[in-house]
Amino acid sequence: MSEFPQLDLSADELLTTTRSVRKRLDLERPVPLEVITEALEVALQAPSGSNAQGWHWIVLTDPEKKRIAAEYYKKSYYAYAEAGAAARAANPPEDLETAEKVVSSATYLADVMHEVPALVIGALHVPGGALPEGNQAGVWGSLLPAAWSLSLALRERGLGSAWTTLHLTYEREVAEALGIPENIRQGVLLPVAYTKGTGFKPAKRAPLDTVLHVNGW
Ligand SMILES: Cc1cc2nc3c(=O)[nH]c(=O)nc-3n(C[C@H](O)[C@H](O)[C@H](O)COP(=O)(O)O)c2cc1C
Repeated sequence: MSEFPQLDLSADELLTTTRSVRKRLDLERPVPLEVITEALEVALQAPSGSNAQGWHWIVLTDPEKKRIAAEYYKKSYYAYAEAGAAARAANPPEDLETAEKVVSSATYLADVMHEVPALVIGALHVPGGALPEGNQAGVWGSLLPAAWSLSLALRERGLGSAWTTLHLTYEREVAEALGIPENIRQGVLLPVAYTKGTGFKPAKRAPLDTVLHVNGW
């Protein structure tokens, strides 16, 4: 039983309308830690290899801690955006309009990341701290389903987030600043806020028949 109001969405509606929310994050409305922990309780029902549950969730609400993570994120974002702009100029994507919308939205997020009420880093215990050469899926599969469940559970409670990974360019620096041990590897950073309005539409995606392979490639 949720302590926080929930949207009246079917499972399919929830799955098809949980979007990357950036410009519609409400930076002014406080987010109680308890709504995040309630969504995390849901997320912990996700599968993990051998049921090891090696995940860890680092929730940043302190302005100074958020500033550190946001600063590394922004530095990485602007380097990435510059390379992306050059690549788009050389080779314009088919759907340039959507690509430009994503850039505008992502740039906005990079600029306000420190103002988002909570930043949640999903991380995973990796024995020895070094990622294996092969079978990366076998490692990250023990964190990412739970992180996506968290995004869904947040949306169900009227909060939005955007899946981000760019701070990982500076994973070690962020780990040191936040006291994260070496054998805990970070996989995702979710900026979390209530959304401005709760209506979101399914996104345009490449048609299924371009990616579906039945009984072989
Ligand atoms: C592995 C992964 C990494 C991503 N990294 C970032 C990121 O660092 N910053 C960001 O703004 N969005 C990031 N995104 C969000 C994508 O841009 C977004 O999912 C995509 O544009 C589709 O939009 P939608 O989520 O609204 O459907 C990432 C998504 C994934 C799955």
